[in-house]
Amino acid sequence: MLRKAWYAVCPSGALANQPQKYMVHGEAYVMYRDERGGVHTVQPHCPHRGCDLSLGHVETGELICPFHGWRFDGTGKCTHIPANTPTAPMPKRAFLRTYPTVEYADLVWIYTETALQGDPPPTYTTFPELAFSDWRYVPFHQTWNAHFTRVAESVLDVSHLPFVHSATTGENVDPAVQGPLYRASKTSIVIYPTPFAAKHPMEPVPATPEGASTEIELLFPNQWIIRTPFGDHGMMCTFLTFTPVNDHRTDIFGIVMRSFDIDAVWMDDFHLQYTLNIMAEDQAIIEHLTPQHAPFDFTSEAHVASDAPTIRFRAMLSRALRKEKQATLLDESVPAGADEN
Ligand code: FES
Ligand SMILES: [Fe+2]
Repeated sequence: MLRKAWYAVCPSGALANQPQKYMVHGEAYVMYRDERGGVHTVQPHCPHRGCDLSLGHVETGELICPFHGWRFDGTGKCTHIPANTPTAPMPKRAFLRTYPTVEYADLVWIYTETALQGDPPPTYTTFPELAFSDWRYVPFHQTWNAHFTRVAESVLDVSHLPFVHSATTGENVDPAVQGPLYRASKTSIVIYPTPFAAKHPMEPVPATPEGASTEIELLFPNQWIIRTPFGDHGMMCTFLTFTPVNDHRTDIFGIVMRSFDIDAVWMDDFHLQYTLNIMAEDQAIIEHLTPQHAPFDFTSEAHVASDAPTIRFRAMLSRALRKEKQATLLDESVPAGADEN
């Protein structure tokens, strides 16, 4: 999985002063909130004797290891070793790797490539719809026993609608896919499923020149928004982001949102339940695909024209992974000490 990407790991409200351990692509990260509300992510084990730092605690913004009391500040620097006399030198390895961490849309996001000194911080980006002050937002969280790639592709796959979602978004949808109509750039894929949601219970209206009522946008590699116009000027959306916990599990953080009737509580429940029903229909299939990881070798599965967006996604992901691997190899090929002159 890509390391140079932002992954949502928990709702903001779930992270407090007590350090917590979260897994992303099979690796552990320890996260905590300091007294000022700032969020931090560090390596999971203490550099002294490998104690699990999620067993530690936070005091005056510093993470304290429970084994011998070493203290680390928010930059990962060791500030105090209780067993040392005040003049004793600090061991070179007495530091924690840290990871860029942000809070956005009531979620805590980490960038899983360690922060290198001197590197500009990576920029977090998402869809503008997540931050409108006059919209209504209802969050949800699920974990699927499936590989990230299969979960991700399920959103780009329009031809499954009349089969997997025959009672919801795929009801009365013609199985013959027109197109599919989509556009792709280096960082996104936008699909206009046609027809789609013809029988949507909230009666969306056609909004795009192509006559599609809904658009699905991927912000590569792991954020999605499904936009459905409603009435004359209304919009309802479902935001999804996928976090690969490991090769067999994917965390899904979602938000259903709308621009209208924001005080109608029944609509919160209705929109959420409708979305969860659709996702349950997907989950029942996606958790049972073989192989679990969508293959990058294009000859190992059969493809048809309606698979074009998923094939595009595989190409984007495998290219990005190759690029990341090459960059790592280049880093490792720099001779030791070459940067000290
Ligand atoms: S193992 Fe953490 S201080 Fe010793
Ligand atoms: Fe689906």
